[in-house]
Amino acid sequence: MKVALLGGGVVGSQVASLLQAGTADFAARSGEHLELVGVAVRDTSKVRPGIPAELLTSDAAGLVARGDLDIVVEVMGGIEPARELILAAIKNGASVVTANKALMATHGAELTAAADEAGVDLFYEASVAGAIPLLRPLRESLAGDKVQRVLGIVNGTTNYMLTKMDEQGASYDDVLAEAQRLGYAEADPTADVGGADSAAKAAILATLAFHTNVTIDDVYCEGITEVSQADIEAAREMGFVIKLLAIAELNSDETGVVVRVHPAMVARTHPLASVRDAFNAVFVQAESAGEMMFYGRGAGGAPTASAVLGDLVAAARNRFNRTRSHRPTPYAALQARPIGEARTCYAVAIDVEDRPGVLATIATMFAENGVSIKTVRQDGQEAGALLNVRTHVATEADLSKTVDALRGLEVVKQIAGVTRVEEADES
Ligand code: NAP
Ligand code: HSE
Repeated sequence: MKVALLGGGVVGSQVASLLQAGTADFAARSGEHLELVGVAVRDTSKVRPGIPAELLTSDAAGLVARGDLDIVVEVMGGIEPARELILAAIKNGASVVTANKALMATHGAELTAAADEAGVDLFYEASVAGAIPLLRPLRESLAGDKVQRVLGIVNGTTNYMLTKMDEQGASYDDVLAEAQRLGYAEADPTADVGGADSAAKAAILATLAFHTNVTIDDVYCEGITEVSQADIEAAREMGFVIKLLAIAELNSDETGVVVRVHPAMVARTHPLASVRDAFNAVFVQAESAGEMMFYGRGAGGAPTASAVLGDLVAAARNRFNRTRSHRPTPYAALQARPIGEARTCYAVAIDVEDRPGVLATIATMFAENGVSIKTVRQDGQEAGALLNVRTHVATEADLSKTVDALRGLEVVKQIAGVTRVEEADES
C-alpha cells in the first residue's frame, strides 16, 4: 500500500523513521507492505533525520493528487491547506490519518461526512492526548455504555510548564521555551497556553463521548496565561496544585453538554495532581463501567507517532480486508450548553473590613445565591482580613451572582481571587 505523509516536522519525521524501521512488522500486522512514497514539507532543503531526501516535495497538492495513494497521513497542522488536502485525498479514494485537533475540532463533521461518502477511513487518535489510546476506547469499547463525564489534562505543554513552575519555581517564559524545544508545543504556542489546544481536544472528546457534534466554538476556554507564580504558591499553601483541565459533562437534566477548559486547583492527594511534565491523564465516567483513567505521554514526536502509526495500521488492515470502520454518528444531538450551567467547587478570596458581623454578611450572600460554603479561613491583614471561602458544588451562574453581590458590599474591599476547585468526591 502506498502511504503519503503531509508534514515532516516533530511528528512527521518520527512517523517516517518508525514506519521505515518497522517495515516487516507493519507488513505482518497490516496484511500488506506499507511503502512511504512521498513527504510534503514547506522547505525541501532542510535535512530531516529519518526522511530520505528523495521523498521530499513541497508540492503537497500534487502528492495528494497522484491517484494511487492508499493512505494519506496529515501531520502538517493548521486549518488550510490541511483541510483541502484531506478532502482531496478522500475524494481520490485514500483513507486518512491525522493528528490535527485544530482541524478536527472545527471541520470534523465535514471531513467525517466526506470520508463516509467516499467509503474510506478517517482516523485521528493522535489528535487527543498524544500516545494515549483514548478515542478508539470511546468510539468502540464504550459503545455499549453511557458516558456521563470526561475530565482530564490534555495539553502536555501547559502541564509541563505548571509542573516546573510548581516544583522548581521556574519562570513562565523559560519553561515555555523549554516545552517548545522539546517538541511539545504547537507551531503557535499561544494555542497551548491560551487553552485553544485543550479546547479543541475537549470538543473532539465530547463529540465522541456524547454522540453529538461539538466544535471548538462550543467550548468555554481559559488558558494559563493569567496563572502567576503567586497563584501557584497560594494553592500550594492550601495543599493544592494548579492544573489546566478539560471537562465535558452532561448538564443536570441531561439534555445538553457543557464543555470547558480552565485552570483549576486540584488537591495534592487527587490522582490528577501526580500527572507531571508532558504527561496527560483523562478520566472517563460511564454509567455501567464507572470511572476509568487513561494516562500516558500527551505530546512529543515519538509518542504521537505511536498513535499515528496505530491508526495507519488500522486503516491498512481495513483496506486489506476491503472494509472500513464505523464512523462516529452524532445521533444524540445534545445541545452545547453555556458555562453558567457548569457545576464545580470554588475557592473565593475576599479582602474585607475586619469588624463584627462581616463574616455573617458574607455568608448570607453565598446562601442567598444558592452557594453552599464548605470551609472558611480568615487571615489577618494590616487594615482588614482576607477570607478564603471554599464552596461545595455550585453552578457557575450562581457563583457569578454571588461574586457580583459580594462586590456590592460596603465591607468588601476587593475580590482577591476566584479559582475553580476540582474535588475528587464532589462531581
Ligand atoms: P511541526 O513540527 O511544525 O511540523 C509541521 C510540518 O508540516 C513541517 O514539516 C512543515 O514543513 C510542514 N508543513 C506545514 N505547513 C505546510 C504546508 N502548507 N505545505 C507543506 N508542508 C507544510 O508540527 P508537529 O509538532 O509535527 O505537529 C504536526 C501536527 O500534529 C499538528 O496538527 C499538531 O497539532 C499535531 N500534534 C502534535 C503533537 C506534538 O507533540 N508535537 C502531538 C499531537 C498532535 P517545514 O518543516 O518545511 O516547515
Ligand atoms: N501542543 C500539544 C500539547 C501537542 O502540548 O499537548 C499534543 O497534542
